[in-house]
Amino acid sequence: MAEWKTGQVVDKVQWTEALYSLVFEAELAPFTAGQFVRVGLEVDGETIGRPYSLVNPPHEPRHEIYFNIVPVGQLSERLAQLEPGDPILVDPRPNGYFTLAETPAGRRLWMFATGTALGPYLSMLKTAEPWGRFEQIHLVHGVRLARDLNYAADIERIQAEHPRQFRFSPLVSREETGFAWPGRITDAIESGQLEARLNTAFDPAQDRIMLCGNMEMIRDAQVVLAEKGFRKHRASAPGQIITEKYH
Ligand SMILES: Cc1cc2nc3c(=O)[nH]c(=O)nc-3n(C[C@H](O)[C@H](O)[C@H](O)COP(=O)(O)OP(=O)(O)OC[C@H]3O[C@@H](n4cnc5c(N)ncnc54)[C@H](O)[C@@H]3O)c2cc1C
Ligand SMILES: NC(=O)c1ccc[n+]([C@@H]2O[C@H](COP(=O)([O-])OP(=O)(O)OC[C@H]3O[C@@H](n4cnc5c(N)ncnc54)[C@H](OP(=O)(O)O)[C@@H]3O)[C@@H](O)[C@H]2O)c1
Repeated sequence: MAEWKTGQVVDKVQWTEALYSLVFEAELAPFTAGQFVRVGLEVDGETIGRPYSLVNPPHEPRHEIYFNIVPVGQLSERLAQLEPGDPILVDPRPNGYFTLAETPAGRRLWMFATGTALGPYLSMLKTAEPWGRFEQIHLVHGVRLARDLNYAADIERIQAEHPRQFRFSPLVSREETGFAWPGRITDAIESGQLEARLNTAFDPAQDRIMLCGNMEMIRDAQVVLAEKGFRKHRASAPGQIITEKYH
């Protein structure tokens, strides 16, 4: 059961008509980059809570979530209406296993995200851990439209701080952009285009893979990655892939 405390919204970004970030102050227990918090609001006398990955790294005092409005949903549309100064309910115990600690050792890390699942990777990339553990890190972000590619300033800062270790690859599936690769992450993996464009080859002995976001992407990506020798990492049967499903 969630144990709700009241925090306060201190900042809000509306990226598009459906994509938002909220920054809030709330006392949270120590957390690990990649974990989520449950956030809630009172609706008709009942608390509606949902999990959201923290975008901020653990050392930053203010907390941030990145989300899209799900038109049939109960909470996301209401969260999008909050403004700085408004109260927000937060379960102060962050949780989850989509972390670098759960990712087996390797030389290269692939972070694949659809939509708002970029968030937990930003948290991880703003800590020292991945840079000490992996020689190379690829962040691959798949979205429908170019305007869904947000947090560019954060990604540019990470690139500037780690020019040799880090590479960002955006994919846009529903329009031509001239800068992002067209299509879906899964198609780029299956066709070999991802490897060709990055001038590299997947190698299960060295590569570790994180998949976050749309559950169909996560399911389909595991199918195409299996053909390249990758499988889900489990304590009982070590592999290379760890996952976090948002929907
Ligand atoms: C571990 C975890 C972490 C999450 N972190 C984030 C996050 O950082 N950012 C974020 O935007 N969402 C995140 N989610 C999803 C989030 O918890 C909510 O489900 C989402 O914001 C919709 O809430 P809602 O109450 O409006 O709709 P809900 O009642 O939760 O969902 C209504 C329906 O929409 C589906 N759905 C949920 N989310 C989406 C979506 N994004 N796109 C399409 N369909 C969806 C659900 O499967 C359900 O069928 C996370 C989910 C999990 C399990
Ligand atoms: N105006 C609005 O209210 C509005 C606007 C946008 C989104 N939304 C809501 O937000 C939700 C999430 O939208 P989103 O665009 O953030 O996320 P999304 O639907 O998960 O799409 C993000 C990316 O994932 C890709 N993808 C989907 N299924 C995949 C699969 N099986 N394998 C590989 N890639 C896959 C999509 O490709 P494809 O393009 O090929 O599907 C797209 O490139 C929508 O379902 C909708 O409810 C609302």
